[in-house]
Amino acid sequence: MSKNMRTISSLLRLEHIKIENYKGIDCLEIDFAQPQFEDSPDVTVIGSQNGLGKTSILECCALLAITITCHHNELIKFDRRHGSDLFKKGFSISGNFREEDLQFSRSLTFDPKDDNYFKITGKSSPKTIKKNNTNKESLHNFNKNIETILGQTSNQLSMEHFLFFNSYRKIQESSPELGMLVHKSYEPIFRNRMYETPISLFKIEILRSFMLDNPLLDQIDKQESHEVLKNLNDFLNQYAGVKIKKLVPHTNNTIDILLEHQKSKDIFSFDGLSSGQKEIISTFFLIWYSTRVKSKIILIDEPELHLNRDWQQTLVRDLVKNAPNNQYILATHSIEVAEAVEPYQRILLEKNSIK
Ligand SMILES: Nc1ncnc2c1ncn2[C@@H]1O[C@H](COP(=O)(O)OP(=O)(O)OP(=O)(O)O)[C@@H](O)[C@H]1O
Ligand SMILES: [Mg+2]
Repeated sequence: MSKNMRTISSLLRLEHIKIENYKGIDCLEIDFAQPQFEDSPDVTVIGSQNGLGKTSILECCALLAITITCHHNELIKFDRRHGSDLFKKGFSISGNFREEDLQFSRSLTFDPKDDNYFKITGKSSPKTIKKNNTNKESLHNFNKNIETILGQTSNQLSMEHFLFFNSYRKIQESSPELGMLVHKSYEPIFRNRMYETPISLFKIEILRSFMLDNPLLDQIDKQESHEVLKNLNDFLNQYAGVKIKKLVPHTNNTIDILLEHQKSKDIFSFDGLSSGQKEIISTFFLIWYSTRVKSKIILIDEPELHLNRDWQQTLVRDLVKNAPNNQYILATHSIEVAEAVEPYQRILLEKNSIK
């Protein structure tokens, strides 16, 4: 797989997290062990029986990472329309990040008695450009992102500092719209629809790279979009023996993605791929695509979803080969995934480890 586009500008990692009163967790502290050698992969695998808090920990990591772009002492109103049953009780999450040689800490507290405000405090990285979260659009996005973190939607979340794959993720069998070519336009399009049909982030990215490879479209670096397409086709070929053949526009402004099987030459829609093929191709592509310039923290709940034992065994190795500079935090039931990392990179939650 070609990596010649990679120009890593910073390495961000979550080093420590403390969670208090979040869902079933009363109090829990975790250190995410540093890789022992310079070329060791930065992977932590969290395992446990059902219901012991793996998903809750990943949610807390994502909730904390979302605050990196916030200001110290920022207050953000929780919009109850996004989840009236969520956060009925208060909680607190704090942690330390490191970006290259700089350390910074963040904390997020929520108290429903305090008029449903998230309070964000802590020193932040001087490298991060803080956003003004107080305008209507940013508030809406902040609340939508929280909804995704809590598994209320089936899409992955791709943010500036992290990627989050919740365990409800699904490559939706609905097609992206032509207007979604313009990156920033996902939200307005979703909102203008009478019924929100989520379109897979993955399909939107495919559409973008495919269309922008067209010399008539003038917007993005052609070299880059060519490289993106080449990588996407490598993933499609490796895991499903197919390549993208063409995009077919429909009168309702949606675009279907057609694939060609390399041996049989059969042509079929992307949605015809198996669930395991869709899962591994979309996960690998989104991670590679979103972190090819700047590394991120990658949070994956149940990375074994839809995968057979062989793919579970090679998953960590291939993830790291695909995008080696990210920090990976995985929550899993799979022995194969857990055994793919060193013992110091495993965290086993037991009934008495969560107070
Ligand atoms: N609001 C809440 N208050 C208290 N406990 C909660 C709340 N919401 C969920 N729980 C409990 O917290 C735990 C959440 O577990 P979590 O989803 O993090 O487990 P998990 O290890 O990911 O499980 P699985 O392997 O089944 O995915 C469950 O035992 C659930 O019953
Ligand atoms: Mg879970």
